Amino acid sequence: MCGIVGYIGDNKAKDVVIEGLEKLEYRGYDSAGIAVLKDGNLFVEREVGKLSELKNLIRNKDLMSNIAIGHTRWATHGEPSVANAHPHTSTGYDIAVVHNGIIENFMELREMLSKKGHVFRSATDTETIVHLIADYYIDNLEIAVIKALEELEGAYAIAVVSKHEPDRIIVARKGSPLIIGVGEHENIIASDVTATLKYTDKVVYLNDGEVAVVKADSVKLMNSNGVELPLDIKIVDWDISAAEKLGYKHFMLKEIFEQPEVIINTLRGKIYSEQVEIKEISAEILHGIKRVSVIACGTSFHAGLVGKYIIEEELRIPVSLDVASEFRYRNPIIEEDTLYLVVSQSGETADTLAALREVKAHGAKVIGIVNVVGSTIAREANGVIYTNAGPEIGVASTKAFIAQLVSFYLLMLQIGRIQEKISKGKEREYIKILEKIPNQIENILKNHLYIQSVSKSLTFVKSIMYVGRNINYPIALEGALKLKEISYIHAEGYQAGELKHGPIALIDEFTPSVAVCVKGSTYAKTLSNIQEIKARKGKVIIIATEGDDKIKNEGMDVLYIPEISELFSPLLTVIYMQLIAYYVAEIKGLDVDKPRNLAKSVTVE
Ligand code: G6P
Repeated sequence: MCGIVGYIGDNKAKDVVIEGLEKLEYRGYDSAGIAVLKDGNLFVEREVGKLSELKNLIRNKDLMSNIAIGHTRWATHGEPSVANAHPHTSTGYDIAVVHNGIIENFMELREMLSKKGHVFRSATDTETIVHLIADYYIDNLEIAVIKALEELEGAYAIAVVSKHEPDRIIVARKGSPLIIGVGEHENIIASDVTATLKYTDKVVYLNDGEVAVVKADSVKLMNSNGVELPLDIKIVDWDISAAEKLGYKHFMLKEIFEQPEVIINTLRGKIYSEQVEIKEISAEILHGIKRVSVIACGTSFHAGLVGKYIIEEELRIPVSLDVASEFRYRNPIIEEDTLYLVVSQSGETADTLAALREVKAHGAKVIGIVNVVGSTIAREANGVIYTNAGPEIGVASTKAFIAQLVSFYLLMLQIGRIQEKISKGKEREYIKILEKIPNQIENILKNHLYIQSVSKSLTFVKSIMYVGRNINYPIALEGALKLKEISYIHAEGYQAGELKHGPIALIDEFTPSVAVCVKGSTYAKTLSNIQEIKARKGKVIIIATEGDDKIKNEGMDVLYIPEISELFSPLLTVIYMQLIAYYVAEIKGLDVDKPRNLAKSVTVE
């Protein structure tokens, strides 16, 4: 977890680093800190809480300099405190390090280094890195870093500066993301491109095991033995404005409203002559597969659950599903004729990445459904479907989810064509349905004020039930997850038919429900389940299909989606789930984009 930024160039180092950290706050916001090299000295400032606290702290301090590194933290070892905030410094305050990841052998290292006289001032695993580097330092920071890295076990992205070598930042990566933004007479290092986009669109993605010496006018990339490697500079075509709020109160709301455009972008470049062609995935991989196994976390897991319904319904190929943190440790059966799909917005989730590596180690093929281009999962998978949702800043995932769903429909069509399970006519029909979705979402979004007023009734309750059946069961799960993430109201997602086997005991006049009851195979059954809730005095907000006037008498409030085949309905029902969660949190005055205890990109297992 955590966000790292570093700058070397002209005198604006502090400002670039603080601005970059602002963009990376979604990676954690327990504390923040900055180290600046100036006039032969190292200055370190750190503060607990969000970045605004650090900004207040340094407001009147003269930290103008041409080199700085900074950090926004999501605590793993050691509580959020000033002492545990990064950057950490060597005993003599001459070297500073920022780190994202976990050093697993830090206890042994700490003991060894303490005995040698290094003074530890925090409870973090990170601090061992800076003392280890100091221990190796004679007169060359690059060599000291390379030697120290050999002893570290675990995951890291680090940036290191020393007051003895103020013309360079040394960076390294193993298991946690790090990029170098290559500019004109300036270079920026960061955990992801949102922090560098303002200055340059040229980016070098560090691979695991690589180290770089970053100066104002040069970048020297090396492998872990110090052997120089060629620089592979990529151009990032993300629009900088995409990373800003554009007048919306929160990133989450902006991202919800971006969804029509996101779908267009997800479809773009994947359909040719009314046929799905995802070029990054070879027909060879899809041809002989007999089963699909989806592995993901959080919202991406819910997308995978919808994917299961889509693939099983249309292709009759069995799909199993695992939460990534469970997959790896249950000694999974990994078979060659199974297609493994890892789904991840960030492409960096440690559990998902570990599962991907586990699958590959057993010789099976993995396809990623990933949003962040160049992320580790995207690079390590055997093929990748980029969801093209653009940078998602709100911690609660919305537009990335819709793009993942669209990717599942496309993947289903591609497998269907290759395995001759979907006719050309059906493929055309389904593509048309997908192409209509943006417009239909626009129409739902036009109702946002009504959804806001409906959400008011949920704002001060203690607990909410979300129910759905069949392909909308995962949407009930996603609705409940969205609500608890950002409003801190307890919510449970359940299969509507399963309520009577336990959770119905929780229903009373103070525990409302949100039910998806759209036209389709389980409509009548869901309606009966709604009756069961109402019989226990539970109030119900119903998401239904336009034209279903009868249902109006059933619910407290009815939210309509346009008529659509049940298979595609999650693309519309989820919009209401997102907006309800958003408005409940917004009415409560909560920090929607940065909910407590959560982080956007979870790079620890
Ligand atoms: C975190 C985020 C969730 C996200 C999950 C998986 O918990 O807060 O919004 O769904 O990680 O992230 P990924 O980037 O792998 O989709």
